[in-house]
Amino acid sequence: MSTSEQGNDANRVRIFDTTLRDGEQSPGISLNRQEKLEIAQQLARLGVDVIEAGFPITSPGDFEAVQAIAQTVEGPVICGLARTSKQDIDAAWNAVKDSERPCIHTFISTSDIHIEHQLQTTREDVKGQALAAVAHAKQYLDDVEFSPMDATRADVEFTAEVVQIAIGEGATTINIPDTVGYAMPHEFGAFLGRLYELVPDLRRVTLSVHCHDDLGLAVANSLAGVLAGARQVECAINGIGERAGNASLEEIVMLLRTRRADVGLDTGLTTQELARTSRLVSRLTGYQVQPNKAIVGRNAFAHESGIHQDGVLKERTTYEIMDATTVGLQSNAIVLGKHSGRHALRQALEEMGFELDGQALNTAFKRFKEIADRKKTVTAMDLEALVTDELREEIPGYALDWFEVEASSRRPPHARVSVTLADGSTAEGTFTGDGPIDAVFQAIDAATGVGAKLSEFTIGAVTEGQDALGEVSVVVEVGGYTGAGQGVSTDIIDAAARAYLRALSVAAARSRAGDVVGLPETATP
Ligand code: KIV
Ligand code: ZN
Repeated sequence: MSTSEQGNDANRVRIFDTTLRDGEQSPGISLNRQEKLEIAQQLARLGVDVIEAGFPITSPGDFEAVQAIAQTVEGPVICGLARTSKQDIDAAWNAVKDSERPCIHTFISTSDIHIEHQLQTTREDVKGQALAAVAHAKQYLDDVEFSPMDATRADVEFTAEVVQIAIGEGATTINIPDTVGYAMPHEFGAFLGRLYELVPDLRRVTLSVHCHDDLGLAVANSLAGVLAGARQVECAINGIGERAGNASLEEIVMLLRTRRADVGLDTGLTTQELARTSRLVSRLTGYQVQPNKAIVGRNAFAHESGIHQDGVLKERTTYEIMDATTVGLQSNAIVLGKHSGRHALRQALEEMGFELDGQALNTAFKRFKEIADRKKTVTAMDLEALVTDELREEIPGYALDWFEVEASSRRPPHARVSVTLADGSTAEGTFTGDGPIDAVFQAIDAATGVGAKLSEFTIGAVTEGQDALGEVSVVVEVGGYTGAGQGVSTDIIDAAARAYLRALSVAAARSRAGDVVGLPETATP
């Protein structure tokens, strides 16, 4: 089934998730193949219609991640992004072709600002490139999406000409991006209305919208888009994406669900998976969700004022327009304690959708026991963090054996670590300086002989309470290669050391593979 066939139900809005493409373009985010695959599997569980898995021409790593997703993730359409050149489109096709439902998304700007200053070409050339790109993609597959980039700052008549050309060549979806987040909802709706007048054929294909949040209007503009007739919204989990990000997936989905009776439109998503998807993306990207973030923020369903608490206790709907359980919050039941056995762990994980056997189950059980010894109760959220942290396919590289830190307010902290290196040998390193975590990181650098630059460091707690698991995300740069890593532990220094070593291993693996992210020059289409 192609993306356009999925849109047959007139009241159904399809969700095109771009967390792994536009979202991954956020500064500091650097997901490896395994992490992208994990997010894609969860997006499939959430029930998104399309996963834009990446921009395959940009790096061998991105190509391989899109290919792995196309080969293994079942359910959603798997889409790869391409500029208009044959080189880009061939890379996108080769990456997505193993999917049961492949799609190529190609784009070129229609605004004069972009045509003159960025592309340094002419409107005629843009028309030619759009035609050639869609025609080339159609040689490979049916499902082709075309976007006139920066459309909301472009001449609507010219954009309509380009859209007509793309439809003429067989584009199945036309996506209108508000690339720089400049539009206002009434303008965006009017722009789409005018496009429908100028291009009657637009009614034969799926109209999609892709809004950025530079003025905080991405979700409002996406709503204006669907009210004007669009039946696909491009969005990202937690609203991540270029600059201020994309429309937040969870917000547009819950907006349509909560106001379904008034708007008359809905998506097909399993909304109970929203909170878990948000946590996974936050954990793997290191982008924390602000506490008051709509739908998935920690406080989105918390009531602080006495009047509100009183009202909710008497009748939930006095101050709640949604039930927290419909987005998968409050599913943090206590599941296990220190006397729970392997069988109970396996069953609890299975109920959460993680199927573990053999060595993976042994590793999980060992970590679970360590944590249960230090923490009275292990909740579903603890298990989720543990599984995301521990059971990911390990990148061959460095592993922490042990560490010691002496910290005092009277002397600089001193750290000593032992690390197993990629060849199986062990090495020790020491460092004295700054804070205890910095001392551990520098001691790891001394043990591994790698001089890394720390570019991101975030620290958080998995649940509430003094014995909560701590989680740390770091991004490092080693000789021009970035690597991200996460660590979870009851001890925050242990979590930080694990995260740092993983990030070093990823950066080292990237440098071995020569995986530099960047766009090659566009060849003539
Ligand atoms: O914002 C944008 O215009 C894009 C396009 C590639 C659709 O991300
Ligand atoms: Zn975008």
